[in-house]
Amino acid sequence: MGILEKMRLSGKTAFVTGGARGIGKSVAIAFAEAGANVVIADLDLLEAEKTAQALATTNGVKSIAVKTDVTDPESVNLLIETVKKEFGQLDIAFCNAGICINVPAEEMSYAQWAKVININLTGVFLTAQAAGKLMIEQGTGGSIINTASMSAHIVNVPQPQCAYNASKAGVIQLTKSLAIEWAKHNVRVNSLSPGYIGTELTLNSPDLQPLIKEWNAMAPMGRMGKPEELQSICVYLAGDTSSFTTGSDFIVDGAFTCF
Ligand SMILES: NC(=O)c1ccc[n+]([C@@H]2O[C@H](COP(=O)([O-])OP(=O)(O)OC[C@H]3O[C@@H](n4cnc5c(N)ncnc54)[C@H](O)[C@@H]3O)[C@@H](O)[C@H]2O)c1
Repeated sequence: MGILEKMRLSGKTAFVTGGARGIGKSVAIAFAEAGANVVIADLDLLEAEKTAQALATTNGVKSIAVKTDVTDPESVNLLIETVKKEFGQLDIAFCNAGICINVPAEEMSYAQWAKVININLTGVFLTAQAAGKLMIEQGTGGSIINTASMSAHIVNVPQPQCAYNASKAGVIQLTKSLAIEWAKHNVRVNSLSPGYIGTELTLNSPDLQPLIKEWNAMAPMGRMGKPEELQSICVYLAGDTSSFTTGSDFIVDGAFTCF
């Protein structure tokens, strides 16, 4: 069997949080193109349903949407129960939902801080925990990919975003902790740290959109990344050819953090 054949995800089932749009949607498309069944788990059910329908129609896989709030343990539990009922098994979890709030630290309210930490860090914990627990019960192993950010490694400028940066640094250390605890179960846990990527989060944010020119001037490649440029690394991490890869963070940022 050739390497591309070995990288296929046929017969596997994945869930993707924040999969309705942006990076999550792009990676969900890649999982489906590689042959996986995909559950789109997102707060935005309408958009999630559109994405799931498109995946199923284009790739001949089974894809459904489940309204999920990653900060709510009951909602995450319902996601897992739906996966069990509809697919019988979970092999891949992309814990990706996240938000950014740009406020100077001295002005940040407790509610703003808590919202970012709850979605970006606690949400990744709850979804990865639920996925890992199921994979351990199944005895099948599995692959969990958590979305961190280059903001886990550097402090972005000029915009203030201390809660976001702290949450993403937390995702990397959480990922390593889970990788160690679950290595004996063959449940692998890695994180992805994208640089600036053109999605709703950046292109349509009134705070961030005006800064794109400035970021591009700082970027060695002179541009932001596209969501599609994160697809192949996630297919690699999701599949069996990455069987010795766990506890690692993958920076995909066009060398933004190299200097
Ligand atoms: N865009 C970038 O430049 C960039 C860079 C590095 C890391 N990231 C990270 O990548 C991830 C995806 O970002 P994106 O740019 O695609 O964002 P996006 O805003 O385009 O999409 C985020 C998705 O998450 C969903 N979501 C938000 N809160 C949720 C919740 N509580 N439960 C379930 N779903 C929820 C939204 O409905 C949306 O569909 C985030 O974790 C983000 O921090 C983005």
